[in-house]
Amino acid sequence: MTQCGCFITIEGLEGAGKSSCLSQIERLLRDRGLDPLLTREPGGTPLGEAVRGLLLAPAHHGMSAEAETLLLFAARAQHLEQVIRPALQAGRPVVCDRFTDATYAYQGGGRQLGEARIAVLEDWVQQGLQPDLTLYLDVPPRLGLERARQRSAPDRFEQERLEFFERARAVYLRRAERFPVRMKVIDASRPLAEVQAEIAAVITRMLDDGLD
Ligand code: TMP
Repeated sequence: MTQCGCFITIEGLEGAGKSSCLSQIERLLRDRGLDPLLTREPGGTPLGEAVRGLLLAPAHHGMSAEAETLLLFAARAQHLEQVIRPALQAGRPVVCDRFTDATYAYQGGGRQLGEARIAVLEDWVQQGLQPDLTLYLDVPPRLGLERARQRSAPDRFEQERLEFFERARAVYLRRAERFPVRMKVIDASRPLAEVQAEIAAVITRMLDDGLD
């Protein structure tokens, strides 16, 4: 089996189309003889999935921004130790549905916590580990939320107002400008075929450049 210990993350607001993007990336990597590990945040471990339940439950609508952020990083610490680092060390690509850019966007921007305290937790928990590639699927929040609300009952985040998602999107776009090599902005308001063609081009380029 070919090896590539590369860490790919997928980001985007609700309804951006992350799920079909994830299965496409899995196929592209398998076609190249790789054995990707697909995972998600919050989640990815039994502890992380339990924390996810707490974070998404509408019953916890009074959760403070600080408590929310610490829960996200607690789940992330477990995920890194139990799943992500061992897979990368074994030479497997890891494809993660959301990672720390989401914390900067949703808690830093959406909840207006700012980035300084998130940066402290990021340093503490990740100890320098960063994704090699982040695909940010960009959609206007109104379009994304319409798509998401057709799918299922809104979770605690989906119940937020439009302004929350506008702030989160602004942070994602600012981060993409700041980290142009790692973060690629994909305009996900276009037809799926066009979005997928761009994703295929980005992944192929990454593999051809040999990120391992
Ligand atoms: P999902 O809908 O993509 O599975 O993600 C669940 C929710 O968790 C989504 O509304 C975004 C939110 N979230 C944060 O607010 N901060 C984070 O750091 C992560 C990973 C997710």
